[in-house]
Amino acid sequence: MLLHVRLSGWACWCLFSGVFSVFSLQQRLTVNLNGKWRLSNSNGSLLLPAQVPGCVHSALQQQGYITDPYFRFNDVSYRWIALDNWTYTTTFTLSAELSVKQKVLLVFDGVDTVGSVSLNGIAVGKTNNMFCRHEQSSFSWDWGPSFPTMGLWKGVRLEAFDILQLVQVSSVPLYNDAFSQWRVQIELLIDAVQTARGQLTLSIPELDSEQTFQTHFNPGKTKSNFTILINTVLEMTPVSLLCYPPQVYFRTVELIQEPVVGSPGLSFYFRINGKPIFLKGSNWIPVHSFQDQVTPDVLKNLLQSAVDANMNALRVWGGGVYEQDLFYEICDELGIMVWQDFMFACAMYPTETDFIQTVREEVVQQVQRLKSHPSIIIWSGNNENEAALATDWFDIPASQRPKYIRDYVMLYVDNIKKLVQEEDQSRPFLVSSPTNGAESEQEGWVAENPYDPHYGDVHFYSYILDCWDWRTFPRTRFASEYGFQSWPSFSTLQPVSIKEDWSYGSNFTSHRQHHEDGNQQMILQTALHFHLPNATDPLKRFTDTLYITQVMQAQCVKTQTEFYRRSRSEIIEGKGHTMGALYWQLNDIWQAPSWSSIEFGGKWKMLHYFAQSFFAAVFPVAFEEDDTLVIYAISDLSRDLKLRVNVFSWTELDPVCTLNSSMLLVPGGSAVAVFKQPVASLLAGCGNCTRLTCLLTFQLEDDSSQQGPTNYHFLCSPKDAQGLRRPNITVKVEEKKTCFSVTLHSDSVAPFVWLDVGNIPGRFSSNGFLMVSRNRTVDFNAWRPTSVAELTASLTITSLRDIY
Ligand SMILES: *[C@@H]1O[C@H](CO)[C@@H](O)[C@H](O)[C@H]1NC(C)=O
Ligand SMILES: *[C@@H]1O[C@H](CO)[C@@H](O)[C@H](O)[C@H]1NC(C)=O
Ligand SMILES: *[C@@H]1O[C@H](CO)[C@@H](O)[C@H](O)[C@H]1NC(C)=O
Ligand SMILES: *[C@@H]1O[C@H](CO)[C@@H](O)[C@H](O)[C@H]1NC(C)=O
Ligand SMILES: *[C@@H]1O[C@H](CO)[C@@H](O)[C@H](O)[C@H]1NC(C)=O
Ligand SMILES: *[C@@H]1O[C@H](CO)[C@@H](O)[C@H](O)[C@H]1NC(C)=O
Ligand SMILES: *[C@@H]1O[C@H](CO)[C@@H](O)[C@H](O)[C@H]1NC(C)=O
Ligand SMILES: *[C@@H]1O[C@H](CO)[C@@H](O)[C@H](O)[C@H]1NC(C)=O
Ligand SMILES: *[C@@H]1O[C@H](CO)[C@@H](O)[C@H](O)[C@H]1NC(C)=O
Repeated sequence: MLLHVRLSGWACWCLFSGVFSVFSLQQRLTVNLNGKWRLSNSNGSLLLPAQVPGCVHSALQQQGYITDPYFRFNDVSYRWIALDNWTYTTTFTLSAELSVKQKVLLVFDGVDTVGSVSLNGIAVGKTNNMFCRHEQSSFSWDWGPSFPTMGLWKGVRLEAFDILQLVQVSSVPLYNDAFSQWRVQIELLIDAVQTARGQLTLSIPELDSEQTFQTHFNPGKTKSNFTILINTVLEMTPVSLLCYPPQVYFRTVELIQEPVVGSPGLSFYFRINGKPIFLKGSNWIPVHSFQDQVTPDVLKNLLQSAVDANMNALRVWGGGVYEQDLFYEICDELGIMVWQDFMFACAMYPTETDFIQTVREEVVQQVQRLKSHPSIIIWSGNNENEAALATDWFDIPASQRPKYIRDYVMLYVDNIKKLVQEEDQSRPFLVSSPTNGAESEQEGWVAENPYDPHYGDVHFYSYILDCWDWRTFPRTRFASEYGFQSWPSFSTLQPVSIKEDWSYGSNFTSHRQHHEDGNQQMILQTALHFHLPNATDPLKRFTDTLYITQVMQAQCVKTQTEFYRRSRSEIIEGKGHTMGALYWQLNDIWQAPSWSSIEFGGKWKMLHYFAQSFFAAVFPVAFEEDDTLVIYAISDLSRDLKLRVNVFSWTELDPVCTLNSSMLLVPGGSAVAVFKQPVASLLAGCGNCTRLTCLLTFQLEDDSSQQGPTNYHFLCSPKDAQGLRRPNITVKVEEKKTCFSVTLHSDSVAPFVWLDVGNIPGRFSSNGFLMVSRNRTVDFNAWRPTSVAELTASLTITSLRDIY
């Protein structure tokens, strides 16, 4: 026997090392059973062809039995589908070649969820966990519809082989401090029909490393562990957000929880290759109710959108699905760090032996499948279950509490944590999110207050308090969830609605809102700072309302994220050293109001354009404290920077006055105050300015040019602004080499200028901006062929003064 495994697939190595793809000389015959199967319901009234991989809903839709499940109220009309039982059937013949093999396996990569499998009428297997590969779960959250799905959502195949086959290869790089040497730990899962002895060669051509082992496998499935020492001296480069395609970097990950000077509690931050890194990003939810409809293009577009908004991290949240391999491959390539939850969320789970057994299988399979991906920097046991116990979401009687806590520890600590740490020593494990981390452990794994800002991570939501007031936010070590809702744009809603749905008070509008009082909360939060739309034309009033909810959301998340970023370097009243801001949520599962910054279909909301700025590597942020204006420079790089402040009046496109600071070194990975002045003295020095008549813009510069985006600060709510006129904005669209350019000309100051080209898919280089210049040009990248004429005809421009 000779087994040769080549580990390769070094893609674009940014911070990371690691995805190994597999190549084996061992012959195995695979017969793909994907394709057309037959599908029937329990009483036989429906019998139809069905695509595998796929699910029942998709099959019914493809065959015309149902229309789009996302249309209007169809989530209710189609409940019968989930209440029925369905059978997938296919026939296949075993080729002679296949039938002489010593072992033939029938492999189902994903069965959703409870099912049984029979072959020639004989039951051969049972399934009850959609996250296990066979050979729960994710519906009806407040951002999505209730479509419990059924089906063969991944592939089905026959695998036949003699002697042995390689089922899976996974690998993690580990660094040995004592010897200053990297080694790669490689794990092979081997299925052997008979005892096999021989020579195994493991090679990593890109690193010029190869090692040969004498091996011996017993019959059955066995895991074997090998270590290759890496001899090539690898330059340990500092963490950088740039990609250097031809190079290979190894990375270490540490989660640092240690005492903080001047603060009770413990720090909570990630150190990558020895450098502290601030996680900037968002939370990821399933892309579609029907996973078989998630295409590579959709995944690529969403992940590229995250990177383009200057995010470096995403949390794959525990109420959804373990994503497909391609998701992690793209993250590896783009340098997105993944916080990976296990799929347990907001509930108490049973701890019967059967359940624990299926969980253990799920955990082992997922860790083995995913651990070779360098993008994953942490495993996390569950979403909000520690908090649910600590703050008693489920009214557990006091006498039962110890039992619930024991069950919690048994599932997440004694089983999941232990297993994961056996399988993967290369990255940290956190039991829950939010949690106090090491402090929670001290308190028996359920802390008295898992939201304590002095420890671990925090989830924080408040819809009623004024989001423009940063004092309402907890100064946490790490903000792993926070956010505000908004509505998607009209072009996203239009295909799933009809005219009578197009008002804020319609049944449709209420039906799509799955968060209690959500629509009302958005209006209340908006009204704190903006006039509400009052157009007499109902459709305009509706689209203006969609727009203003996006303005509100973008401003709220901007304020909160700026607060976290500027809290990076300081401790105030014992709190601070914030090292992560992951807002809730990146993407949408359907066309409905939610916390997302990207709409179903990929269109960026105003928030996502804002994220481009508030996550920028270099960025100035302003806030007021006791009527003093303070401006911080935030920098992930190390630069000498100075600040320029322009004061504008709402009535004029030329600044009333300009203030410059002197040069100051802003160290890499820091936030430092660069400007401090009482608002009153600032205004007194600037023409006739008052809080109601003027506003500020400001930017950082080095000796030669502007660094990072321009930011702004309002001195009053825009609803109170004096002199803000309805602008006359004219526009010209031109075709350039690779995109279209849109040049705007305005005759007055215009806040939140929003360009929308309806259902032409694509995105602008910038949008939702404050216009304080006569002219501004932005690019539009179309995702399908279009023309100047089509764009010009579709383009609408809305700014704040257009809605009242
Ligand atoms: C068979 O099942 C379908 C779908 O659940 C249902 O609409 C129909 O009424 C059933 N027919 C009979 C005869 O029970
Ligand atoms: C589906 O199967 C379950 C379990 O066998 C059974 O209890 C239920 O009545 C079936 N439903 C229908 C609609 O046939
Ligand atoms: C692999 O081998 C190492 C070193 O012997 C050991 O610490 C580790 O637990 C093994 N891993 C597995 C998954 O068996
Ligand atoms: C809204 O739904 C209610 C209750 O289902 C119904 O009575 C009412 O007619 C619906 N209104 C419209 C405008 O469809
Ligand atoms: C600030 O700097 C800019 C650019 O160098 C210059 O045009 C402007 O006059 C300066 N303003 C003040 C008040 O010094
Ligand atoms: C201040 O306002 C007065 C009265 O409106 C006007 O005459 C004067 O020119 C203004 N001064 C400046 C510096 O704008
Ligand atoms: C808007 O501006 C354009 C170009 O500057 C001008 O031709 C047009 O008359 C203006 N419209 C209004 C209503 O003022
Ligand atoms: C601004 O746009 C107007 C109208 O399109 C044009 O006439 C003018 O030359 C532009 N100004 C600058 C500085 O580009
Ligand atoms: C809308 O509100 C604005 C500001 O309160 C007011 O000036 C305007 O007349 C209102 N328009 C309508 C159509 O009611």
